[in-house]
Amino acid sequence: EQHRLIDETLAEFKLTHEQLLQVKKRMRAEMEAGLKKKTHDTAKVKMLPTFVRSTPDGTENGDFLALDLGGTNFRVLLVKIRSGKRRTVEMHNKIYAIPIEVMQGTGEELFDHIVTCISDFLDYMGIKGARLPLGFTFSFPCKQTSLDAEFDLDVVAVVNDTVGTMMTCAYEDPNCEIGLIVGTGSNACYMEEMRNIEMVDGEQGRMCVNTEWGAFGDNGCLDDIRTIYDKAVDDFSLNAGKQRYEKMISGMYLGEIVRNILIDFTKRGFLFRGQISETLKTRHIFETKFLSQIESDRLALLQVRTILQQLGLNSTCDDSIIVKTVCGAVSRRAAQLCGAGMAAIVDKIRENRGLERLEITVGVDGTLYKLHPHFSRIMHQTVKDLAPNCDVTFLLSEDGSGKGAALITAVGCRLREAEQ
Ligand code: BG6
Repeated sequence: EQHRLIDETLAEFKLTHEQLLQVKKRMRAEMEAGLKKKTHDTAKVKMLPTFVRSTPDGTENGDFLALDLGGTNFRVLLVKIRSGKRRTVEMHNKIYAIPIEVMQGTGEELFDHIVTCISDFLDYMGIKGARLPLGFTFSFPCKQTSLDAEFDLDVVAVVNDTVGTMMTCAYEDPNCEIGLIVGTGSNACYMEEMRNIEMVDGEQGRMCVNTEWGAFGDNGCLDDIRTIYDKAVDDFSLNAGKQRYEKMISGMYLGEIVRNILIDFTKRGFLFRGQISETLKTRHIFETKFLSQIESDRLALLQVRTILQQLGLNSTCDDSIIVKTVCGAVSRRAAQLCGAGMAAIVDKIRENRGLERLEITVGVDGTLYKLHPHFSRIMHQTVKDLAPNCDVTFLLSEDGSGKGAALITAVGCRLREAEQ
């Protein structure tokens, strides 16, 4: 009886081929809405133009600065890109701390600090006074309008991490025209035809669009597949009602979905002898690395128990089987949903270009994609099933927010010079 009830609950996480096709179709519709002037303002999937009009072609050359403003640390990089027969990318970087009072201070204080760090870095590299083109990767929302006006910096590009990811891979593989992040959060970008981007003037060529696909579902269009656990995770999050697709896919939330299911199972007496521990009530205990370990096939169940023990959860052998099954159901659905979104993108590109078949590469980054033992395989298979006319290759990206930012800057400079 207990088994039946557990299976019944986890069945809600099983999506049929039909349902996944629906998700793909809805993603496509939301992408169209974001691209069109008439619907852009109300669209949830924002489809932001990035002003990146080309991937690298190997002729990029010069010295560039890149700034990677991520979490607690801030990185300044000098990237030397050399074209020609033996293309090289040489990188130097220094990490700076951002003091807590600066972090919590005004935008101006933050930028003052950044400028001090850049000046120190140029000194350190022995190129004081150099005015190099600069690319800036933000991983949080920030007003950017006056950045290059305030300081003597030649800011060529403000970079989204998905675009940095795409560009890093495109430098090695010209077929790479999509960037995907499946880590703490999830997002994707791709090369769209200018004629389809109504928010930007001009019809010629292509531009990279940052889909901001995490917000897919915020208008309720995924409600039929969202479970009570997804709703609980959303309700108790810092941005309730927002980023609903991301909350079903990315590392920051998968563990929370698992935890909510485990709490429910414990309340129903299926787990942990019906005792809800303080640990189980603690948010964000199931980090991506733990989920990845629990689902590793090389791990014996005894080791799953050890991991749970480390988390402060006393489990029996039966408990650990159930926990592993729950993790599997949640991560499989995440990989399939992500694959359905990717299928929508590759098929759109194929149709844009009027092709029977499309060969394309996706540059990917993020800890969930890189660490999880099954996520990537299931995601790839889903893209194959849902977009059978596309041959999609996935390429791992390294340091999109550093190297990628410099490459975007380099491409920007190349195009700027070509225009003059
Ligand atoms: C890094 C990239 O490697 O991966 C970043 O340089 C990106 O641009 C990050 O944001 C995403 O992964 P995670 O798992 O750290 O969120």
